[in-house]
Amino acid sequence: MKPQRPQIIACTQLRDMKQAGEKIAVLTAYDASLTAKLEEAGVDVILVGDSLGMVVQGHDSTLPVSMDDMVYHTRNVARARRRALLVSDMPYRSYQTEAQALENARRLIDAGADMVKLEGAGDVIAHVQALTGQGIDVCGHLGLLPQSIEELGGYRVQGREQAAAQKMINDAQALQQAGAAMIVLECIPAALAARLSEAIDIPTIGIGAGVDCDGQVLVTYDLLGLTAGKRPRFSKDFLIEQPAGKGLVDALRAYVNDVKALRFPAAEHSFD
Ligand code: KIV
Repeated sequence: MKPQRPQIIACTQLRDMKQAGEKIAVLTAYDASLTAKLEEAGVDVILVGDSLGMVVQGHDSTLPVSMDDMVYHTRNVARARRRALLVSDMPYRSYQTEAQALENARRLIDAGADMVKLEGAGDVIAHVQALTGQGIDVCGHLGLLPQSIEELGGYRVQGREQAAAQKMINDAQALQQAGAAMIVLECIPAALAARLSEAIDIPTIGIGAGVDCDGQVLVTYDLLGLTAGKRPRFSKDFLIEQPAGKGLVDALRAYVNDVKALRFPAAEHSFD
């Protein structure tokens, strides 16, 4: 008998996990070798993030990342993916019109992605609706939006003022209404992330958004202490904390276990 291949996690399973209170562990990957290790560690979702512009290409933002870059890295990750759901970022200026969003999302799906991620709300909501209307699964991204870093005036916590917090909740509901299957929340107060997660049925995945999101994501290079310069406050170097004799997969597993057990993120990785 042929050995059975593990089934890829479906979007509906992620929603079931939210309902059951099981946290979703997400990490980034950009190549086949690291993807295989993420699979070994049992991550639920792998994100081919446009953070690759910073950690792989050495730029100081995600803005220079192109569609060709995302297709290339998505293909590399897809070759080693076994069970985790594969989400790929749509890069800067790749979804300015509905037609462009559709064409570029299809390129990522053809490269092996199960879902595409778009940043923001406003005009983006209609583009999300266009994609989901064509059967393409979409992940939203609210809070700190790295592709709008120039407009935001730098990497800082979003949604601290009451009006901005309420707008973010409304945007999350609009994304859900447009058919989004999941939303990343980046650098927002933990209390707002908890309120927002309660206000929608689809899972929220936090990065610097506190422990009450339905799942967590980190840039894997931060988790492994590979990122040049100062590590962001919301991340944690899990590799350095491993006892002697333990290695990379143990560090990845420690992250997955800590997310599932609500040990990560701690208050020191979260914002008020
Ligand atoms: O590009 C990326 O890696 C991301 C995560 C930081 C959520 O969008």
